[in-house]
Amino acid sequence: MFHAQILTLFPEFFDSPLACSIPKRAIASGLVQVDTIQIRDFATDKHSRVDDTPYGGGPGMLMKPEPVVASIREARLRHPDTHVVMLTPSGSRFTQAKALEFTEKAGITLLCGRYEGFDERICDYVDEEISLGDYVLSGGEPAAICLLDAVIRLLPEVLGSPESAVLDSFSEEGILDWPHYTRPEVFEGKQVPDVLLSGNHAKIEAWRYEQANLRSSKRRDEESEHGQ
Ligand code: ADE
Repeated sequence: MFHAQILTLFPEFFDSPLACSIPKRAIASGLVQVDTIQIRDFATDKHSRVDDTPYGGGPGMLMKPEPVVASIREARLRHPDTHVVMLTPSGSRFTQAKALEFTEKAGITLLCGRYEGFDERICDYVDEEISLGDYVLSGGEPAAICLLDAVIRLLPEVLGSPESAVLDSFSEEGILDWPHYTRPEVFEGKQVPDVLLSGNHAKIEAWRYEQANLRSSKRRDEESEHGQ
């Protein structure tokens, strides 16, 4: 069974997203086990402090190394084959390919920080640093739940049909998905494209690939316009 461990100051953050939809079913069917570990339980001083001010001055607080590293050690003790991922805006960008790569591990441990970030020395104790994108979240938790969701749905047997995961957007080297339509045939004057009603499967497939390519090149143009 794939394991996920989450190192966090806010274990309750994960209750509701893991109790819905696909993650809920995957956990209930024993395909994945998710455990949270409270970083504060590993605080070493009498006030259970997990943060402190930065050397050299400046605003905000940093996660202290002692409790964080102790919680990483606990995670590795519980699952010696775990892959430890730190969530940080300065990590490398999370992608569908990375999600697929994580499903091939025995399990993952997601380290979530709060405040302005981590003491830099903590990086020496993790296997990888991942960012969800070029924006700053108030903590690693929302990033961890997105990453975990993307991984869980790719685990073998989690989705009913193996085709659903394979045919997704991005599975094919960043090619976006094509447009989808369901009933009614006309909604507020907007018609479903004729080709989808034609019953001609070769034509439908060709149209879908064309649309996916159009969307992908449009997205690439937008991204290069915005210097991304
Ligand atoms: N923590 C704060 N912002 C983040 C981001 N964009 N990705 C991952 N972790 C984060």
